[in-house]
Formats: sequence, structure tokens, C-alpha cells
Amino acid sequence: MGKDVIIACDFASAKQTFDFLDKFTGVKPFVKIGMELFYAEGPAIVREIKARGHKIFLDLKLHDIPNTVKKSMAVLKNLDVDMTNLHAGGTKRMMSAAIEGLTREDGTRPLLIAVTQLTSTDEESMRKDLLIEKPIDEVVMHYAKNAKDSGLDGVVCSPLEAGKVHDVCGKGFLTVTPGVRFADGDIGDQKRVMTPAQAKEIGSDYIVVGRPITAAEDPVAAYERCVKEFVD
Ligand code: C5P
Repeated sequence: MGKDVIIACDFASAKQTFDFLDKFTGVKPFVKIGMELFYAEGPAIVREIKARGHKIFLDLKLHDIPNTVKKSMAVLKNLDVDMTNLHAGGTKRMMSAAIEGLTREDGTRPLLIAVTQLTSTDEESMRKDLLIEKPIDEVVMHYAKNAKDSGLDGVVCSPLEAGKVHDVCGKGFLTVTPGVRFADGDIGDQKRVMTPAQAKEIGSDYIVVGRPITAAEDPVAAYERCVKEFVD
């Protein structure tokens, strides 16, 4: 399980996605398909990107009763994605059910990653809206431990949390980190960012990079720069 750069394909249609992916003639980057593209195009987009030779992180963040999540994961396992995810807030029982559903008959399965607290949730909204009184980093680490105990492979987290997650859950527990920007780039709406080189330094296993690559004048060069800073 090597370090890799995952491109967030946050496009609204298959056409936009393929216009973008067609620029990559040599390498086949690992791509993230999120809710927007999946809801617009359905499972066909996953099959088509897979058939083109890309690895896929299907970012649908499941959160429902354990039985429903288990049955939904059993559908996703047949899509042959490489990584998918759920909300750790669904409880350990839901996460264990997800693993059961996702595991193929031969014992293999896609990597399963948990979202702890969304980075859009801050301590104040956690306290006021969710009635969770504990400090947010304690909650994030507790949810990460729950994910590990339930047999999951890692968590999505800020690159700033990756080191602590490894301290708490072990080096082998994967950290998948968005919020990455080049040192000379525009940070846009992300608040806490790191460069690919800093994310490498702190021990992120995968970085998820969207606009610094998708909105770049030369996306292939931007992707190669990310790989050079983060992987090489
Ligand atoms: O364009 P940008 O690099 O900001 O894209 C980051 C990607 O990671 C987006 O798909 C976004 O939804 C996702 N993400 C994030 N922060 C989180 C979880 C996911 O930016 N906490």
C-alpha cells in the first residue's frame, strides 16, 4: 500500500470528467468520484473510469442502519472500486456491518475509510447542534479508534491530524488527507492547508487534491508536481 496522489474529480458530468482524464495520456492517476458525479451519472461512470485503468476512491460517505449499509456495500464491492468510505458516526456496529457487506467471496475487499467529523463541523456546531461536549480532537481520535476496532483501514482527516491519528491508531492505519495546496497556490475555500511535501513529512498516506490540479492551466504538470513532492 504505497503513498499516492488521488485527484478529486469534482465534475458535474461524464463529459467534463472524460475531457479532463483524456489529458492524461501516459499515467493513469488514482481518482476520487464523489456524490455529485455519481448521482449525475450512476455506476456506469465508475465502470468506465475503471475500464480506462484508473484506481478509484468512491466517496459516498454512507451513514444508515447497519443492515442497509451492509447491503449497499455489497453492491459497491461488485463495482470493483479500490477505496470507499462511510461516516464513523454511524457506530461500530454499522462499520462492522459495512466490512461484512464489502468483503468478496474470495476474502478481498476495497479499502474502507471512515470520515470522523467533517472539517466543516467545528467545536461550536458540535456542541450546539449535536450536543457533543468533548473537545473536537478527542472526538476525532475516538472515532478513528472505533473505525480501527471495527476493522476499517483508515480515516479521512486533515493533514494536520494525520500524525496524531498514526500515534493513536498505529502507522499502518491509513490517513487520507484533503486540504492540500501548493506553496505558491490559491487556497480557495480550504481553511487549514498543507503542501504535498508537508503532507509527506507528516506521514499522510494518500493526499486528495482537487482544484490545484483540475483548475490548473496544465493539469498533467500540476499532477506530476504533486507526485514529485509527495511520493518521489
Ligand atoms: O479542490 P480541493 O483540493 O479543495 O478538493 C478537495 C476534495 O476533498 C473535495 O472533493 C472535497 O469534497 C474533499 N474533502 C475536503 N475536506 C474534507 C473531506 C473531503 O476537502 N474534510
